[in-house]
Amino acid sequence: MPDLRQRSINIILDNQASSGAYIASPNMANYAYCWFRDGTFIACAMDEVGEHDSAQRFYEWCVTVINARSDVVERALLKTACGEPLSADDYLHTRYTLDGRDGTDASWPNFQLDGLGTWLWGLREHLQATGRTTLPEAWARAVDLTVRYLTGLWQAPNYDCWEESNEYLHPHTLAAIYAGLRAAATLDETIALHASGVVADIRRFVLANGCRNGRLVKSFTAPQAKPNTQPPALYEHSELTMITNAIDASLVGVATPYGLLSPTDPIMQATLAQIETDLHRSGGGVYRYPGDTYYGGGEWVLLAAWLGWHYARNGEAERARELRHWVEAQADTDGNLPEQVSTYLLAPDRYDEWETSWGTVAKPLLWSQAMYLLLYETLKSTE
Ligand code: BGC
Repeated sequence: MPDLRQRSINIILDNQASSGAYIASPNMANYAYCWFRDGTFIACAMDEVGEHDSAQRFYEWCVTVINARSDVVERALLKTACGEPLSADDYLHTRYTLDGRDGTDASWPNFQLDGLGTWLWGLREHLQATGRTTLPEAWARAVDLTVRYLTGLWQAPNYDCWEESNEYLHPHTLAAIYAGLRAAATLDETIALHASGVVADIRRFVLANGCRNGRLVKSFTAPQAKPNTQPPALYEHSELTMITNAIDASLVGVATPYGLLSPTDPIMQATLAQIETDLHRSGGGVYRYPGDTYYGGGEWVLLAAWLGWHYARNGEAERARELRHWVEAQADTDGNLPEQVSTYLLAPDRYDEWETSWGTVAKPLLWSQAMYLLLYETLKSTE
């Protein structure tokens, strides 16, 4: 059994490009890119284990990628304010080559907002972890661009963190934006003035539209936008035409780490109870959502670690330990963790089509290694 903590650190360091980007997975062509979402959790884990230089280089990469696209941000804001649809060149993409170029696959579901909220959240965590209080000018510019982008676009339906369902809004995504804007507001007074109202609006919006039967839902339909109306006018319940009642394990993020709901909030507790019932296989891992067919819908290592991380932060060490043990048992002899484990599939007949077109399940997935580190370190700090 390898020392999975150390192996995870090494795997992440070995797969960080000289640009600072973290590749999602070195063993799958479609994952040979860097995502803000994966990357920020990886950087956060590196900060947690004291590898601050690695995290810093990732944030520098983010700053470069965003600042190089200030024209895209301005265009997105202008078109959105005018009620015009955005085309593929009008928004920030979700994944980039390791040297910071847009991927060339135009069919990739690129319009996603959670990763950008997550990077703002992670950046503040990094500054706190390294005791820094001021932002270099280029970093401040990237933060400002991201804040304006998110405050302008947060109500636009976009792909969720699984890169699906772009006709909806998602409580997980909104929570990531909430956390990002809240973090950025602590860094700059002007941002605080600009973003604080939006932060409060997002929370109200999720509570008004993103809950059913006392818990959060995976996704919901956007209320009809009226041109030139201010946010509060968009929140009419009556305009809500459809809501999906499904559960999704990524909703853990609404509390940990995004903090839109406290872990003790009854809505959060009911959401977790549903995740436990519907998505956490007893003694096993965690599925993304009922009906998942990606690689047949396996148990996700990073989600098991994420749920464990939540429990570890909230005084439920026993549950956290059980999830950690399951994650550890999924590592191969070199300590590589996969994206998902295919032993107990939700849709076994849908596995082959993915393996045929994309190859075997991504391994190592750096995000899995990172979530393991976050769980491991948090549990250790409580012992
Ligand atoms: C997942 C994303 C992830 C990407 C890279 C996709 O299959 O749905 O959440 O960012 O892989 O790891």
